[in-house]
Parts: sequence; structure tokens; C-alpha cells
Amino acid sequence: ETRHLNLDYGYYSDRSELPEEDRQLLEAAAKACSTAYAPYSDFRVGAAVRFDDGEILTSSNQESEAFPSGICAERGLLYFVQANRPQKKIRTLAIVSSTECTPCGACRQVIADTEQRQKTPIRILMGGSRSTIVVESAQSLLPFRFTLTPTKD
Ligand code: THU
Repeated sequence: ETRHLNLDYGYYSDRSELPEEDRQLLEAAAKACSTAYAPYSDFRVGAAVRFDDGEILTSSNQESEAFPSGICAERGLLYFVQANRPQKKIRTLAIVSSTECTPCGACRQVIADTEQRQKTPIRILMGGSRSTIVVESAQSLLPFRFTLTPTKD
């Protein structure tokens, strides 16, 4: 038996084509790039979440002299959200860097975990300096995510 997965995603060659709320969130993430501490990779990433009540929070990647000890922008932000806004639902997560930036594998797992916990889809906007990719759910970025308690085969 062969099963199939299908991935629908939006592609916007210019940020100006997106709805106002998404443009705003991408701008917030782009602004957060300037707060990155990335002297080792020289790669700055900004992340921003919009909750369903409209609140926006941002963060950025932070590196360590013990290089792998740093944290990606998305994961740092989601862990902060879990600690400080545990009751709130994230509607959209935006990630921006100067080159098109799609989340690493570890971040996909953490975004998918968050989506699972809150039980509503998290839209993800992945932006470069001009273009943006949009997916409607974290699940589509990480099919077969790891779970401690698998429910189906
Ligand atoms: N990085 C992020 O912040 N998010 C990603 O999705 C990929 C990578 C950071 C980690 C590290 O500080 C730098 O980018 C280079 O890998």
C-alpha cells in the first residue's frame, strides 16, 4: 500500500501581496532580526507570533561561545510563550531572515508540539527579504512528528 501526502502552500513573490495583518507580523519578525546575537554564524533570524487576541511577541536567534548551545529564534520564542502565555493560542508564527528562512527540523517539532497542545492550527509565514511562503498548519511542515504517546499506526 502506498499512501500519499499533499502539501498546499502559498507563495508570495513580494510581501506587499499579503494581507495587512500578515505583513505587519512579518515586519515585526524582520525588526526582531536586529536583536539576534549571531557572531558565530553571522545569520540573523527573527520570529514573531500573533495570538488569537491580536497580541504580538517577538524574538531572535541567540548564540553561545559553546556554539551548539545557542537557540533558534522560533524555539526561543515558543518556549517563552509556553512559560509566559500558557493559556493563549497562537494564530500565526512568522520567521524572517535576509535569505528565505524555513524552520530547522528541531523547530518544526517544537512548533508542531505547540500546535498539538493548543488544538488549533498555527499558520506559518516564512519570509526572505522579498518573498514569503505560507502554510496553514505546522503539521504540514512535519508529517509524522515525534510523539511520546503514539495514537494510531
Ligand atoms: N536559526 C534559527 O534561528 N532558526 C532556524 O530556523 C534555522 C537556524 C539560527 C540558529 C543559528 O543561530 C543560526 O541560525 C545559523 O544556523
